Amino acid sequence: MKKAVYPGSFDPLTYGHLDIIERASKIFDEVIVAVLCNSTKNSLFSIDERVSMIEDVTQKYPNVTVTSFDGLLIDFMKEINASVIIRGLRTVTDFEYEFQIAQTNHVQDSNIETVFLTSELQYSYLSSSIVKEFASYGGEISKFVPEQFIDKIYSKYKDR
Ligand code: PNS
Repeated sequence: MKKAVYPGSFDPLTYGHLDIIERASKIFDEVIVAVLCNSTKNSLFSIDERVSMIEDVTQKYPNVTVTSFDGLLIDFMKEINASVIIRGLRTVTDFEYEFQIAQTNHVQDSNIETVFLTSELQYSYLSSSIVKEFASYGGEISKFVPEQFIDKIYSKYKDR
């Protein structure tokens, strides 16, 4: 059984992330989407909200589960006995940062391998930050995130 972990902030998950999840689910027996609990980041959604939103849109993939983790990714991987990290690459600008993280994780634990999946070209511009920026000004976000997230995102900005 090949288990892969797809870690990230997912604040919120975008169609770009969903595309990576779908593709990873075809390659690996089990894909665990792991939401990072990062208390230093000023997040739009709580961890529980993010986990439940991602669960909602990944229900159709029977081998995908969603959870959260705190601390180092490699420690979490050890805990759940997984050795493959999935990361999405949108453009070459992502590469340098991702390369650094992948190498660091591998140096720390040589069992850990990072597999990069390239995003669909149509999502190569997309990020959670772009979605938040647009939504904060009431901009149209239906091409960026699943439909069921749209009201949830706008309502966060109404509350602010
Ligand atoms: O979606 P993001 O914010 O780009 O995801 C970054 C993430 C969660 C993969 C990365 O920050 C991470 O693994 N954080 C956990 C802490 C950790 O293990 N840091 C070491 C990386 S050098």
